Amino acid sequence: MSDNQKQLAGEAAALRVEPGMVVGLGTGSTAAWFVKALAARDLSDLRCVPTSEKTADLARELGLPLAALDDVSRIDLTVDGADEVGPGLALIKGGGAALLREKLVWEASDRCIVIADAAKVVPVLGAFPLPIEVVAFGHRSTANRIMDVLTDHDIAMPARLRQADRGVVRTDGGNVIYDAKCQAIHDPVRLADDLKLITGVVEHGLFLDLADEAIIGDDGGVRTLLP
Ligand code: A5P
Repeated sequence: MSDNQKQLAGEAAALRVEPGMVVGLGTGSTAAWFVKALAARDLSDLRCVPTSEKTADLARELGLPLAALDDVSRIDLTVDGADEVGPGLALIKGGGAALLREKLVWEASDRCIVIADAAKVVPVLGAFPLPIEVVAFGHRSTANRIMDVLTDHDIAMPARLRQADRGVVRTDGGNVIYDAKCQAIHDPVRLADDLKLITGVVEHGLFLDLADEAIIGDDGGVRTLLP
């Protein structure tokens, strides 16, 4: 069911793209539906900036013309998924470990549309563990300082180093990820600021004031949300 909702959201977002646009391509299963629907439209003169190697591979396979972020002066529209969509379109992203490149592409974009299935819409951010990207050198020491900040925000659970079958997960940039089980983030702006002040933290998955619109796949259709 959620996969169908992701597909509906991805297809609806692809209709927002016009010929000649520079388009940011998000990462994750919902963004993949967007990439497929965009390729199927076969629009002329597109240039697409991918937010991960995985998305770049998919876009290449589908024949979409790729560009690096530094090859374009500006991105017209970025479409990307999210792990949680909260009030004011505050988001948690990074479940797919692409948060740093995603945020770089989002911030270079004139317009950002987040696409998601209905279960991602929440009244308070934090049930989904917040991804925090950390430089690999000394990451356990950085994690201790992350814990101090989390404690200051009344978050008691330790942040966990992300592991996969093959061991510690590395991002496209070679960094590691800590996932912080926050349960409820009552002051996302202050938490975002406090995390960014820690040496060794490269980026976190709080995307605040970045999404211009959400397209949410629901049973039988899509609905849009504004900040
Ligand atoms: C990738 O790093 C993430 O930000 C994804 O956009 C997010 O995890 C949503 O993924 P799904 O679309 O697969 O749920």
